[in-house]
Amino acid sequence: MTMNWIELEKVAKDWTYEAAGIIKDSLAKPIHIEAKSNPNDLVTEVDRAIESYFFDKISKTYPDHHFLGEEGVAEELDSLEGTVWIIDPIDGTMNFVHQKYNFAISVGIYHEGVGMVGIVYDVMSDELFHAVKGHGAYVNGKELVPVKERPLQESVIGLNARWIVDGKHPYRNPLLALIRDVRSVRSYGSAAIEIAYVAADRLDGYLSVNLSPWDYAAAVILLEEVGCQASTFQGEPLMLLTPSTVIVGKPHLHKEMISAYLGEEQ
Ligand code: IPD
Ligand code: CA
Ligand code: CA
Repeated sequence: MTMNWIELEKVAKDWTYEAAGIIKDSLAKPIHIEAKSNPNDLVTEVDRAIESYFFDKISKTYPDHHFLGEEGVAEELDSLEGTVWIIDPIDGTMNFVHQKYNFAISVGIYHEGVGMVGIVYDVMSDELFHAVKGHGAYVNGKELVPVKERPLQESVIGLNARWIVDGKHPYRNPLLALIRDVRSVRSYGSAAIEIAYVAADRLDGYLSVNLSPWDYAAAVILLEEVGCQASTFQGEPLMLLTPSTVIVGKPHLHKEMISAYLGEEQ
């Protein structure tokens, strides 16, 4: 059966708004927080509840679709065959815990490895970034225009300062040089929102030394619709089953950040 991706986007949006309601309700109650791989890698019962919410909806409505999520609600996935939903139930859990603001639900739908539907919902700002492949990218129904380039010296990029305080971090020197040369840097604490901001021309670029597929799967679908690029620091296509470095941006800036600063294997 051929899938109507515009219809599927509508379903995914409805579920996203419903999930956001669950998250907002949870803010009124005490939230149980746990650390995962390290003390700064947080998860709450709300992250798990939202992932389960999507998994249940998808398995009941589209039993032949596959699921990849951060919190391991579904079995591990080792192939991108068929239709795969890649979901981060809360991107920016630290913001969710500390600020109760600046976090997103991220839903990417891929078919045979190609991004078809991308949704990034900034829950508290009520901004829904959405795209269907070939139909443009939108924020709350308003179409985003193809991005305009700025020279690197006038660009504002998103990145996390933590990597440069580690004196031995392999990317420290290239990142220091890049930070010196751009106009300024910003750090919002949600990769999905930051990549959506590039698509919306609020940032010129964004990069991270290590992201997982659910952090970027949805947002990179927006990028393509407005003429931006996404890749690893070496300019290779992003993988959807393994973590990697991630650099996104307007095409010339993306190319320049790789060729002049980050491209060499560290
Ligand atoms: C994190 C956020 C953060 C990024 C981290 C991610 P989480 O996702 O996107 O901005 O710097 O690498 O792990 O854990 O809040 O879903
Ligand atoms: Ca995430
Ligand atoms: Ca998450």
